[in-house]
Amino acid sequence: MNTSLPAGTLRIEGDIAVLAIQHPPVNALSQVVRETLVKGIALAQAHSAVRAIVLICEGRTFLAGADITEFGKPPQAPSLFEAQDVIELGHKPVIAAIHGTSLGGGFEVALCCHYRVAVPSAKCGLPEVHLGLLPGAGGTQRLPRIVGAAKALDMITGGLHVKAADCLAMGLLDELVPEGQLLAGALAFARKVIDEDRPLRKVRDLDEKMRAARAHPELFADFRKANARKFRGFLAPEYNIRCIEAAVNLPFEQGMQTERKLFLELVAGPQSIAQRYAFFAERQASKIPDVPADTPLVKVAKVGIIGAGTMGGGIAMNFANVGIPVVMVETSQEALDRGLATVRSNYGNTVKRGRLSADAMEKRLDLLTGSLDMQILADCDLVIEAVFEDMAVKKAIFAKLDAIVKPGAVLATNTSALDVNEIASAVSRPEAVVGMHFFSPANVMKLLEVVRGAKTSHTAIATAMDIGKKIGKVAVLSGVCPGFIGNRILRARSLQAQAMLMEGCMPWDIDRVLYDFGMPMGPFAMSDLAGLDLGWSAATSQSATIRDVLCEKGRRGQKTGAGYYDYDAARQAQPSEVTRGIITDFMQRSGHSRREISDTEILERCLFAMVNEACDILAEGIALRASDIDVVWVNGYGWPVYRGGPMHYADTLGRATIAAKLKAYGPLMGAHFKISPTLENAQ
Ligand code: 3HC
Repeated sequence: MNTSLPAGTLRIEGDIAVLAIQHPPVNALSQVVRETLVKGIALAQAHSAVRAIVLICEGRTFLAGADITEFGKPPQAPSLFEAQDVIELGHKPVIAAIHGTSLGGGFEVALCCHYRVAVPSAKCGLPEVHLGLLPGAGGTQRLPRIVGAAKALDMITGGLHVKAADCLAMGLLDELVPEGQLLAGALAFARKVIDEDRPLRKVRDLDEKMRAARAHPELFADFRKANARKFRGFLAPEYNIRCIEAAVNLPFEQGMQTERKLFLELVAGPQSIAQRYAFFAERQASKIPDVPADTPLVKVAKVGIIGAGTMGGGIAMNFANVGIPVVMVETSQEALDRGLATVRSNYGNTVKRGRLSADAMEKRLDLLTGSLDMQILADCDLVIEAVFEDMAVKKAIFAKLDAIVKPGAVLATNTSALDVNEIASAVSRPEAVVGMHFFSPANVMKLLEVVRGAKTSHTAIATAMDIGKKIGKVAVLSGVCPGFIGNRILRARSLQAQAMLMEGCMPWDIDRVLYDFGMPMGPFAMSDLAGLDLGWSAATSQSATIRDVLCEKGRRGQKTGAGYYDYDAARQAQPSEVTRGIITDFMQRSGHSRREISDTEILERCLFAMVNEACDILAEGIALRASDIDVVWVNGYGWPVYRGGPMHYADTLGRATIAAKLKAYGPLMGAHFKISPTLENAQ
């Protein structure tokens, strides 16, 4: 018997009912899915022949969570709780059959099922924390009852997607069934449940692990302390912890009430609104209106990288990590050996930290080769140039590539600021040239700016965006301008920060304000980390800027033990009297006098200058949409995701408010500064 439902079907074969949900793309728990669950399970319960029910999903995944687009809107019946109760409190066993990802509300539904089976490739988790939320459908109460409080804390506050084998080991799954045979496996499991007359197991009734946790109340304080740095600024991790504490200390129903109260608070709060915005912004960024989704791609089976320095090596690791062979080209054996050794040592550190097996490391290293001969790049599908920022050198390299690399390949430059059109002018096939701007450390940072030149083809853009996703990056399209999206905005902030040094601020005053706002570090700590001598030359330096003087004195950043800050043996930054002296001296020589600058002024001048630049970037069409700018700053520069990004932040304050403030700062913003027409005209 087959019954059609709003988002799926109920099929009854003998004594087993199969409720199959179909709600593309990811079977999110929208109203129709909840309705389908309630109706389908109720029908199966009511059918006299049925003795067990299998809940399975069509398409690429099991239920991937609540429908995030419904948050903040009036609730539509039936609620997720109703759907869960129909399953958990019903009188027939329900078996969740999981493939793809069972996440958030989706996993919370599975936890209400009496049994769970999955294919080995499946992953389960409660990732709500990444949306500034907590699992609000019993996840914080049921998960700890299976895995214990300590594991639940890690899994829930980390929002981890846990592999099926690990879920099985923790008791979250009852059985793994062969890959590709989920339905057959789930039916066989249901047969066992019927034949062995297994009980209607309810996670809510388990108490053993909660009792064990009650004997160690210090667990929570220790966890908070150990993760204080990681959770800095975020509200959701603390709320998740409180819910797990409630699971340990309160009866199930009361724990559920705590969870509900805290969930409602988070879902309406600014942090979750910003993080949900960031979730969709990231997905939007992959869509380029004039490059159709079915644009033919270059199949990237082999990658060439020119330059085995820090950037080149980091970029190479991304490809080796996903099984794509990479050849790195250098100009000297010494540089090549050094580059390959650095990659090996980076992998070695990951192995030491237990995040990669020695075997996997060797497999990745086997994919990495080096050469001094550019001819080796002839059969590469994608070549990425990652040498230092010198236009003449880059053009010479591209001219050579043009003669060597097979037709159809994508030729990319990792430049962080130079004109991609000028680089493309060095080749006979400018349509193949695209910018792929990675961020340092390139094997870690999520952002990839894909830079579109005037002649870049749809195929080159689509290939760069696609391969970016394959290597785990968040790719954002940028047009050509100095610094592209990210560094151009960074420069606007740096100009304000530098200007405030001449008005009476010290570097650590400015850094502290931006750190407290939620940035990982301020502009001066960042310069010290990158090295103050990047782009500085001893031969031409004339003590014209504070940086010049610092570099001339050998204070070139963390690597020399001193820069804007002094560094101790553990690389801890301390405010520096030497730097204070240099700044004071500069102020006196240039006739500047000191004034008190409030933290508010520091913050507003830095951030509003960024917003202003971002508005120009948008108006010029360098960024496709405001949210792309936010994706760049969240993923490439550590803008706190709970504040959405500079453009989202601007919208929360009101663009007209920002324009008014910028006008009030007037000449302080600098002679170069002009209010963006977008802000000027904001109502
Ligand atoms: N709600 C609404 N839309 C969703 C969604 C969700 N939970 N999850 C994914 N989508 C949409 C995406 O926006 C995207 O839409 P688009 O095609 O229009 O851009 C489409 O589904 C496909 O998503 P991805 O591009 O991300 O597809 P992938 O295959 O790369 O990844 C995924 C699939 C791993 C499921 C990923 O989409 C994901 O992580 N989704 C969010 C999972 C999640 O956070 N679940 C918890 C939700 S909150 C919750 O459940 C609260 C509860 O506790 C009460």
